[in-house]
Amino acid sequence: MVQSLRFRTAGQVAQRVDSIGLRRISLCHFARANGAQGGLLNKRAQLRITAHRDNETDRQAKTDHASGDPSFAGARPTGNKPLFAVYVGKCHKTDGGRKTWLYFDVRRKNHVQRGRTAPTPAPMTDSPLFEIFLVTVPGLESVLCAEALERGFTGATAAPGGVTLQGSWVDVWRANLELRGATRVLARIGGFLAFHLAQLDKRSRKFPFGDLLRRDIPLRVQVTTKASKIYHAGAAAQRIETALTDTHGLTLDPKATLVLKVRIDDNNVLFSLDTSGESLHKRGHKEAVGKAPMRETLAALMLREAGYRGTEPVVDPMCGSGTFVIEAAEIAAGLLPGRTRHFAFQDLANYDDAAFKAMKEHPVLTPPAQFFGSDRDAGAVRMATANADRAGIAHLTHFANHAAGELTPPEGPPGLVIVNPPYGARIGNKNLLYPLYGTLGQTLLTRFKGWRVALVTSEPSLAKATGLPWKPHGPAIAHGGMKVWLWQTPPLR
Ligand SMILES: C[S@@+](CC[C@H](N)C(=O)[O-])C[C@H]1O[C@@H](n2cnc3c(N)ncnc32)[C@H](O)[C@@H]1O
Repeated sequence: MVQSLRFRTAGQVAQRVDSIGLRRISLCHFARANGAQGGLLNKRAQLRITAHRDNETDRQAKTDHASGDPSFAGARPTGNKPLFAVYVGKCHKTDGGRKTWLYFDVRRKNHVQRGRTAPTPAPMTDSPLFEIFLVTVPGLESVLCAEALERGFTGATAAPGGVTLQGSWVDVWRANLELRGATRVLARIGGFLAFHLAQLDKRSRKFPFGDLLRRDIPLRVQVTTKASKIYHAGAAAQRIETALTDTHGLTLDPKATLVLKVRIDDNNVLFSLDTSGESLHKRGHKEAVGKAPMRETLAALMLREAGYRGTEPVVDPMCGSGTFVIEAAEIAAGLLPGRTRHFAFQDLANYDDAAFKAMKEHPVLTPPAQFFGSDRDAGAVRMATANADRAGIAHLTHFANHAAGELTPPEGPPGLVIVNPPYGARIGNKNLLYPLYGTLGQTLLTRFKGWRVALVTSEPSLAKATGLPWKPHGPAIAHGGMKVWLWQTPPLR
């Protein structure tokens, strides 16, 4: 069983580590400011410590902690003690007066599984590290990977369609709760080889689904098969579903939010649980959306790609339902994107409500109210205002009803203009849009000296029509069934 505890002092952590004989400690250190006072952990003979700090490499952080507190001297490995995961919050004052939170995720070393193959079913009660796949928008995998590494997800690696990492259930919860760019989080819970349907049936009946899945929570099964002797996805699904209901006593429902994804590739059957449920772009506090809303996950990744890190002003002159402005304000305020929503993992057998509540406790910052949206559509402005209110950041945002040509920069330092204008393919006729893009470009060029501009559009010719000095753009990004690009300028001169 995964247990989560909260400790106040290094001594308490040390006592617990000693009593359960841990061999591996991974410290995720989310310092919001450099110069945080770490010093809680020390490298001892029986302990392996890894540490991650925002904007720092693993190596640097390890060095920081090498001369830490000798509290762990007594820790030593002991036989087959059950997994013990500890999620700890501890607060330090830093030089800049900002608070630093430390999170400890502690587990025994001999539970680490390496490599992608060998998906031997392991009892979930023992909670080994397993592969976690963060699904994201094709084209922005490396941006999500950077976010995951910054958030302390060790070893995160970009892959087509997402990011892979090795982690525990605590990491699954945290990825769902904290990552702004992930669309969903898949937990690769294990699998086996199967060369024919009877084998699939037999091994599915033996697989320890009951360690994770609850009889009172319905689920549905999705199967894909590739390069395997079992080539019929429907037949494979039927065998697995029968095993789930008849042997494991589980309930199936084609509309269930909990999904067991089964990939059969080269005769390897791999089970993944979709631990998110509803797509993570649904933050849980947005009700009103406009004609062509940007998904929050995509907006967050584009803000990151445009260099936004929560400290500068942000302006969106065609804000629609306010997605960019609200995401930017939430990032600045240090709000967790999943703070108000439900996740599928909360319906699993290993879910620990008290531990997850503790994980959600997070310091909220008070940034300047420097997030501005405007739109020529009064209805859009009302929507954006209501959405900001529901997100709890209305005090940081300003929304106004006017055309982009009337935009003036807010007082204060320059920052980022980020805009997602209509594209011909989605809204109206493309030819009518050239003057709109031209006016936007002229307004920014003449009034927004020192600001950077980031613009999302599907049409290179429309981006060009702004007359803005675009840098070479990145890869195409999948958005609403189209390809779009994020066009960016250096600070305007
Ligand atoms: C693609 S939508 C933006 C969606 C927005 N990013 C969101 O997440 O909801 C384009 C927006 O541009 C606005 N718009 C179109 N022409 C405009 C103009 N000349 N000035 C200001 N807003 C304009 C539309 O009203 C619409 O809300």
